[in-house]
Amino acid sequence: MRQTIIAGNWKMNGTRASAEALLTELIPLVVDATAKIIVCPPAINLETVSDVIADTNIALGGQDLFWKAKGAYTGQVSASMLLDLGCEYVIVGHSECRGRFGVPEPDFTPTVLAYFGDSDATVNLKLRAALANNLTPICCVGETLSERQAGNTDSVVAAQTKAALSEVSAADATEVIFAYEPVWAIGTGEVCAADEADRVCGVVRSAVADLYGSEVSEALHIQYGGSVNAGNAEALLAKPNIDGALVGGASLKAQDFAAIVNAAP
Ligand code: 13P
Repeated sequence: MRQTIIAGNWKMNGTRASAEALLTELIPLVVDATAKIIVCPPAINLETVSDVIADTNIALGGQDLFWKAKGAYTGQVSASMLLDLGCEYVIVGHSECRGRFGVPEPDFTPTVLAYFGDSDATVNLKLRAALANNLTPICCVGETLSERQAGNTDSVVAAQTKAALSEVSAADATEVIFAYEPVWAIGTGEVCAADEADRVCGVVRSAVADLYGSEVSEALHIQYGGSVNAGNAEALLAKPNIDGALVGGASLKAQDFAAIVNAAP
């Protein structure tokens, strides 16, 4: 059976002090967890978090990376910088980085998104840079509300999955964690029903089977993300194709995140 992996994506939240307080409360609550636990704080707080979780069962992840090793890329973070701070994981292709925000904000014009949003091609470059540096990528895929309403959920999710794995070997593909995050479910409180989340995670698994065969796809870990909370986690994590959760808002509350971690089957 695949081990359950619960990751907390803190997004752009917290200070060093609040991160420390959150972890100090969380650590004793998850000490007996059977699930693998990952926290992904903002890059600027990675060092603080790394120190606090040293010698615990909580691992560290970045929220994004740039694919070049170094150079004139203002504002970017490389794989080696993440490794230097103790990261083992990194999120790539989150919808908030793909420029596919569920609720466009007034200042996110199409031009801005075209310049700063990740594409399938940049997600692939980031995923490969992570793998090449022994960081495990957590690769997010998922449809927008309008894509779902148009009946395109499966084709969008399969295409994103396959594009992310372009030029990735079978051995490396086994290492990738996918996260099915329907954009309409992120931060909305509107969780995808467990049966449907399980079905679409199955679409990810089938896309990987198309590329590499069933041995790789059956070994693959696939998380669900989007309004996961202490109340709905157990039903989601019980599903055969859901091997974990990528948690946003609820990962900022120690009691809630611990309940999700401890809901692992
Ligand atoms: P919420 O759990 O806040 O919906 O966020 C999900 C997410 O985007 C995790 O990456």
